[in-house]
Amino acid sequence: MLPMPSPKLSLQTTTLWRYPSQHYGRGEQGSADYRGATPSWVIWNLLERYTEASEVVLDPMCGSGTTLDVAADLGRMGMGFDLQSQRDDVEFADARQLPVENECADFVFVDPPYGDNLVYSDRPECIGKLDAREQEYFDAMKEVFEEMWRVLRPGRYAAVYTCDVWTRKLFVPLGSHFLYMLSQVFEVVDHIAVVRGNKDLDKGNYHKAAEETNFFLRGFNHLLILRKPEADPNQPPPRAKRKRKPRQERSTPRSRPAGQDRSERSRRSDS
Ligand SMILES: C[S@@+](CC[C@H](N)C(=O)[O-])C[C@H]1O[C@@H](n2cnc3c(N)ncnc32)[C@H](O)[C@@H]1O
Repeated sequence: MLPMPSPKLSLQTTTLWRYPSQHYGRGEQGSADYRGATPSWVIWNLLERYTEASEVVLDPMCGSGTTLDVAADLGRMGMGFDLQSQRDDVEFADARQLPVENECADFVFVDPPYGDNLVYSDRPECIGKLDAREQEYFDAMKEVFEEMWRVLRPGRYAAVYTCDVWTRKLFVPLGSHFLYMLSQVFEVVDHIAVVRGNKDLDKGNYHKAAEETNFFLRGFNHLLILRKPEADPNQPPPRAKRKRKPRQERSTPRSRPAGQDRSERSRRSDS
């Protein structure tokens, strides 16, 4: 029996987005079983607004492949990378060093780990092992953002989907930190609040605990929409990053020279 269809999908027109389902249509985009999967209707709204048919949409932390499924539905060409491949069309790569040419993508979407709240894989490069209260997490995310910049064509758009962290009695405003970091290089186009439909919060005593111990459950995610400015004719073109020390067999790099050390690693974020 086919699953019940989700409500009609439509373009969101304000900066407060809500849609009462993780997926659209009758099936699934990505996998509902993948913890941390992105709501596909969020990606659908972005691709409808910021891309045209046949354009290249790249997701450097593609997980269960939600971005690839939405891209395929809309006739875009998806490119997905992750450290743990859930399916054949998600290629193994570290989001900080993608095996693609400079400026190959017309749109880049990323939904990164929000610190170490979920276990994604045992891989040492997994940013989901880093505590969002520590500088190391922001250093890693700064490298991801730099790589997004490198692969995006000038004049085109990118989006970062994230959630603030309230953990062990400490609030980390990830959305605000990321917005500041990204605004150092991208133009900030808009900042959307996406209402979270986390049904798990209705189970157990989450709401009671929030009331009794005086904290707030996360009610929305941040969606940061960015644009890479048009190329400045007076500036030299971006250089490919130097290669990170190899950790395991990678899929064949499409563009990168092999055997160089990564000596110019950026030091700290501007968070
Ligand atoms: C929030 S999930 C992304 C979910 C995905 N958008 C989906 O709908 O299934 C974050 C992803 O980041 C991946 N990840 C963590 N560190 C990474 C890294 N250094 N390079 C590439 N992917 C990484 C994790 O494996 C995980 O799949």
